[in-house]
Amino acid sequence: MELMIKNARVTGKSTLVDLAIENGLFADIGPQLERKAERTIDAGGRLVIPPFIDPHIHLDAVLTAGNPRYNISGSHPEGIEVWGEYKKANAGFSDLKARARRAVEWEVASGTLFMRSHVDICDPDLTALKILLELREELRELVEIQIVAFPQDGILAYPRGKALMREALGLGADLVGGIPHCEMTREDGVASIDFVFDLAAEFDRGIDVHCDETDDDHSRFLEVMAARTIRTGYRDRVTAGHTTAMHSYNNAYAHKIQGLLVQGGLNIVANPFDNIVLQGRFDTYPKRRGITRVKELLAAGVNVSLGHDSIMDPWYPLGAGDMLSVARMAIHACHMSGYDEMHRIFETITHNSARTMGISGRYGLKTGNPADLVILDTHSVLDALRLSPARLFVIKAGRIVAETRPAESRIHSGGQEKRVDFEMPEKR
Ligand code: FE2
Repeated sequence: MELMIKNARVTGKSTLVDLAIENGLFADIGPQLERKAERTIDAGGRLVIPPFIDPHIHLDAVLTAGNPRYNISGSHPEGIEVWGEYKKANAGFSDLKARARRAVEWEVASGTLFMRSHVDICDPDLTALKILLELREELRELVEIQIVAFPQDGILAYPRGKALMREALGLGADLVGGIPHCEMTREDGVASIDFVFDLAAEFDRGIDVHCDETDDDHSRFLEVMAARTIRTGYRDRVTAGHTTAMHSYNNAYAHKIQGLLVQGGLNIVANPFDNIVLQGRFDTYPKRRGITRVKELLAAGVNVSLGHDSIMDPWYPLGAGDMLSVARMAIHACHMSGYDEMHRIFETITHNSARTMGISGRYGLKTGNPADLVILDTHSVLDALRLSPARLFVIKAGRIVAETRPAESRIHSGGQEKRVDFEMPEKR
């Protein structure tokens, strides 16, 4: 036995369990296993979970905030302006690999072992894509990355957009992206979705489209995606990201869309960090939250997951690659602070995302699966969401890939020193 994790608290199990790991796989999981191991880690009753997943990030833009200048208004249009200025000032994306590697390391140290990155292919040389395809291989030991060919400026609206998409897939992009609401007309948007589905079928790849990321309640490309998915039977392999217009749809139409999403088996990825600050910018008061209907979609049976989307880029200046903080934002922005709802949100950054990324068959704390896990310095899911505790150990295929020493706070009062414990003792 290579590694034994003792006394782990695992969701859905009433007693503490041990996890025995051999040849990078879970060999056995159960209470008080009597097996010798080369190394043993005592979790001491702390929460042990499968790794977090970030199914929607833009690694080509991460960590560019302030380069060449900050977004002063914080708005989406100014973000696009600043991104254009960045590209002019940083010809050849010479800083890209170092930035993206750093952001990925933040995510891994925070317990994320699977990521899906959109990469802007609206560049005649596909420079960013080539760099990130290289980085995907260089980081394989740490993290599994899927890459989406993402046409930031449109497929029909950008010169040679279709040819660049095809070229990107030929180079090794894993999924076909799109941005129908940014095409010039409604008809072009529909045509772009047809092109995306045809290209995905030609290359046998999944689909992940930025869809209806606007406050315009007339932006209705999600229904086009859903209908095409139902007709092609491409279910589970189709993801729509953002879908913020759904926030503004009338309830009758939103109900119809939910039915189509369930029927088609599409995945939805909400990105609460970016959309809580970027949407509603044309509103006076009341100001819409601009997040897709996470609570209602989950209740309808749609597979919803959450993405980090940006880490310090022209559109979102904060973030540190921690999926627990994304979940916490969703709890607030989506009115999901009910007890069961918070547990459902935890699923959106773990098991639901595994389904979105098509890895459910090898994901989770189960005998025979790759031994991927995170030991959190806390004892419950709710305290994980509340405290964003230290990820004591992050383990990929039985190998420790990240370790964190927890911070310690002390109060000095009345000549005494006392350690501050942010957990409620009765939770232990
Ligand atoms: Fe995005």
